Amino acid sequence: MTNTAKPSASSSAAGLRGVAAATSSISDVNGEKGELIYQGYNIHDLAEHATFEEVVFLLWNKRLPNRAELAELEQSLKASYAIPAELVALIKQFPREADPIDVLRTAISALEFYDSNSRDISREKSLKTAIRLTAQFPTIVAAADRIRRGLEPIEPDPALSIASSFLYLLRGEKPSERDARIFDVCLTLHADHELNASTFTARVVAGTLADMYAAVTAAIGALSGPLHGGANTNVMKTLLEIGSVENVEPYVKQALQEKRKMMGFGHAVYKTEDPRATHLRQFSKEVGEAAGDTKWYEMSRKVEAVMMREKGLFPNVDFFSASTYYMMGIPLDLYTPIFAVSRISGWTAHVLEQYANNRLIRPRADYTGPAYPQAWLPLEQR
Ligand SMILES: CC(C)(COP(=O)(O)OP(=O)(O)OC[C@H]1O[C@@H](n2cnc3c(N)ncnc32)[C@H](O)[C@@H]1OP(=O)(O)O)[C@@H](O)C(=O)NCCC(=O)NCCS
Repeated sequence: MTNTAKPSASSSAAGLRGVAAATSSISDVNGEKGELIYQGYNIHDLAEHATFEEVVFLLWNKRLPNRAELAELEQSLKASYAIPAELVALIKQFPREADPIDVLRTAISALEFYDSNSRDISREKSLKTAIRLTAQFPTIVAAADRIRRGLEPIEPDPALSIASSFLYLLRGEKPSERDARIFDVCLTLHADHELNASTFTARVVAGTLADMYAAVTAAIGALSGPLHGGANTNVMKTLLEIGSVENVEPYVKQALQEKRKMMGFGHAVYKTEDPRATHLRQFSKEVGEAAGDTKWYEMSRKVEAVMMREKGLFPNVDFFSASTYYMMGIPLDLYTPIFAVSRISGWTAHVLEQYANNRLIRPRADYTGPAYPQAWLPLEQR
């Protein structure tokens, strides 16, 4: 007998599917209609018209900025691009072969030491932390990549947007307008997604009134799993393994026969096309055409067709982002950190929302252990 009545964790709620575990104004997903909404705006409108910085303001403030507000936010972000020298020195000590998402997680945890306001979770101070984190994620990911390649990190250029800054810091040269715009929209598309696993993690940690660095560090850990943000890297690994358009059909059929999951397909909420995939499919085509190599796009389309025919499954956000980033020359193991470079905007928005109306998140579990009471046996009698 348990001491308090609690609703049963029925099998349909395994993994909390369909359970509303919080109220939030930040984003909404309509799985039946294939709609993603940020603070009342359809993702298609934002992808077409907004910059990532406008989206960041929207997520944090429940409304779009006017010109002066946007300029002020852009200025604050740019002023925060540079990371502490101590952090660069620390990253230099990490093993070269460390996974970049783990490097990011450890770096963000350490970044807290260099913020004297970290423990202040008032909205005013938390917004400052959110700006710092959103501005410094790209710098850290790019610096860590250069360090592992034996190169010195590049000084951020405060004239650049977050998207351009990241590509510049990674490659050492300013991106083309097309690459900058495509990457900017990629950031918008990945910015928030209701109570996905990493965002829920961030809220659970913030719910204990731990600070934003703790919440975000935990969220990066959740994002790193192959069923969440780790899927995009695995999509590209699969495409490389398949190797040719001709090999798609036999490869996918065999994978499904062996009950292996094809990464980048299926979704816990969308039962139709993931609206983010609509844009990423087009980007995969565009960057392939611009580079004169549409092989990965064509293979992706073929995988998509076979998955639809065999399983009725749609591609999710990770599927076409893989070939898009690949054709932009981004190393495979940076795809998940790039997801974080965008999602930090959503994580911080959710942490701000959690702090503003906090209650410790503490669900119950259905007990399935040995019958109670068990008789205590001394060691020698067991
Ligand atoms: C995203 C995901 C975890 C959602 O999981 P879920 O809602 O719990 O759905 P399930 O894993 O229970 O899958 C339901 C059915 O579809 C199948 N399925 C789901 N995704 C599949 C995939 N990517 N490849 C092959 N089959 C898949 C399952 O095998 C299961 O089939 P069954 O009923 O015959 O056993 C799941 O689709 C997945 O693992 N996808 C691959 C990883 C990925 O791309 N993650 C990024 C998400 S944005």
